[in-house]
Formats: sequence, C-alpha cells, structure tokens
Amino acid sequence: MKLTNLLVTNNLNEHSEAFAIDVLTGLSAQKKSIPAQYFYDDIGSELFQKISQHPDYYLTKTEFSIIEKAALHIPKMIQSSEIDIIELGAGDGHKSKLLIDGFLNNGCKVNFYPIDISEKAMQLLGENLSIDTNLAIHGVVADYFSGLNYLKKISNNKKLVLFLGSNIGNFNQQQSGDFLKKLWLTLNQSDHLLIGYDLKKEAHTLNKAYNDSDGLTKAFNMNLLNRMNQELGGHFDPAKFEHYGFYNPTIEAMESHLISLEKQDIYIDSLEKSFHFDAFEPVHLESSYKFTVAEINNLATHNGFKVVQHFSDVNDYFIDSLWQVHKDFAAE
Ligand code: AVI
Repeated sequence: MKLTNLLVTNNLNEHSEAFAIDVLTGLSAQKKSIPAQYFYDDIGSELFQKISQHPDYYLTKTEFSIIEKAALHIPKMIQSSEIDIIELGAGDGHKSKLLIDGFLNNGCKVNFYPIDISEKAMQLLGENLSIDTNLAIHGVVADYFSGLNYLKKISNNKKLVLFLGSNIGNFNQQQSGDFLKKLWLTLNQSDHLLIGYDLKKEAHTLNKAYNDSDGLTKAFNMNLLNRMNQELGGHFDPAKFEHYGFYNPTIEAMESHLISLEKQDIYIDSLEKSFHFDAFEPVHLESSYKFTVAEINNLATHNGFKVVQHFSDVNDYFIDSLWQVHKDFAAE
C-alpha cells in the first residue's frame, strides 16, 4: 500500500496541546465533559475493535450484513469503469473489502483511499485487503478534509465516499450538518456517499450494546482517565469512578459518562491545576445519536445530497444510505 502523510511534523505536539486545552476547558466547565475524539489512542482503538466484535454491540455485525448485500447492487447503480473509493476512518477493512470486491467483480478498476489520522490504523487495514491487478491502495494519513482536498487535486475519477459505523451518530445536529456541508464542498455532481446510521430501537437493546457483558465499553471509557494520567500527568484513580452508559430518550442518544464515586480533588501536573469533583458528579464523554428514516432523508436533502437508496437489515436496526451529490441544491 502506498502511503501519503499530510500531517505536519510537529503534529504530535499540537495533538497533546489540543488534548491539554480540551481537558482544561472540559473539566473547568460547570457540567464537566471530555470530547469523545480522545477515546482513540492506540489502547482505545484496540478496545473499540474488540467492542465492535462483541455480540452485545450489534452495530458492526448488522452493518456488515447490510453491506454484504448492498455490495452486489451499488456497483451497478454507480456504473463506472474506474472509481475512487474513499473511506473516512481506516476501520479494519472488512466492510470496505466487500464493496471493493463488488466493484472489481463488475470489471471496474478501483483506487482505494482510506483516510485516517493514525498511521498505525492504516497499517492494520492494509493487512485485510485483497490483492488484485485492478486495485490500487493508497492510504492518506491526514484529517478527513485535508485528505479529501488532496484527493480532489490528484484525481478526476468518480468518487464513492464511505462514512460507516454510525460515526455520524457521534456528532450533534449542528456538527453533522457542518460535516456534511464540508464534505459536499469537496465532491462533484457524479460522486456518491455511503453513510451508516444506527436506527432508533427499544432502549434495552441499546443499553446492552453500550454496557457489554465483558466490560469492554467500561474499559474504553476508563481509558480516558489512564490517558490523562499518562499524557498530562493526571492523578486519577480509576477505582474512584464508574462508567455509566444509558439511552436518553429526550435527546434520542446513548450517553456515556464517568461518575465520580466520592468527593475528590485531582491535580493534573501539566495543567498545574487541581479539579474538584463532587460525590456522584458526572463527566460526559460521548453521545451516540440514533436516527429515523425521516431524519436521514432530511439530513441528505438539507445538505446537498439526493437519497439513491436506503439499505437495511432484517431487524431494521441500521441503515447504510447511498446518496448522490446534488450540486443545484443551493439554488432551490
Ligand atoms: C465510533 N462510534 C460510532 C461508536 C458508537 O457506537 O458511538 C463508539 C462507541 N462508544 C461505545 N461503544 C462504541
């Protein structure tokens, strides 16, 4: 796999500086929070891979079953002799492999461009993909939009962008609109987007998925305390916090919190500051929004896309929605 690294050399320092600033802001606020993006260091990414294979976390296997079938239809719907498939977030390659093979089996030449901020994630992905004379794999180590703008400059092929796994569910309404509009700007009229949405369902199934029986999700959340200890010189004792994940029907999202089990003051060396936690005070870590078909349709039409087709599973748990870019939409 060819690799292009668009990250500037001092990016590591910038990254830990951003982490420090976000922790300072989040823990100083009246309602404490830490942005969910910080889950994904090497340990967090490995834990997420394990969560996604766990029987309680239905999302990944459900989406896999959808893409298995959709991969037979999508190449016929897009119809191209050569396509650039761009995956936002490297994933483990299993779902993208199904789509790539679908296009190859239809005689289409495929250029696969995973974009991920982590070079390590990119290397793992390379191991799971097919070798084929009609397939070129070119990893782009970058944030999504630097990667997409780079690809816009180097290729005029039709594009299919993959944003799978209900990653969009980790954005609030404002953030998803901003994200989709920015994405639209990097694409042309003939380009498509395949985007994964976890659907609303009974709370029991949701609560089970985010409180798996092997404690992987708990470890994934607790890892943020370890990260603050290791990277910022924090003095958190994970035994003094509990993981609390629940479906909040008023915002229609799963929420993850760490709750302080006692009154405590915790010093973070690099911030030269102590943070007070009341007994049972929560720290918000993540919201995972759940969707209806009507909400998915609205997101498409309000952000410059036409829905081509929704692909769903037998339980109607999840939708992968194929959208085409609609460049005239601003004029409407
Ligand atoms: C990556 N993202 C879509 C996952 C989700 O379901 O919100 C992250 C996750 N958090 C807990 N389990 C999985």
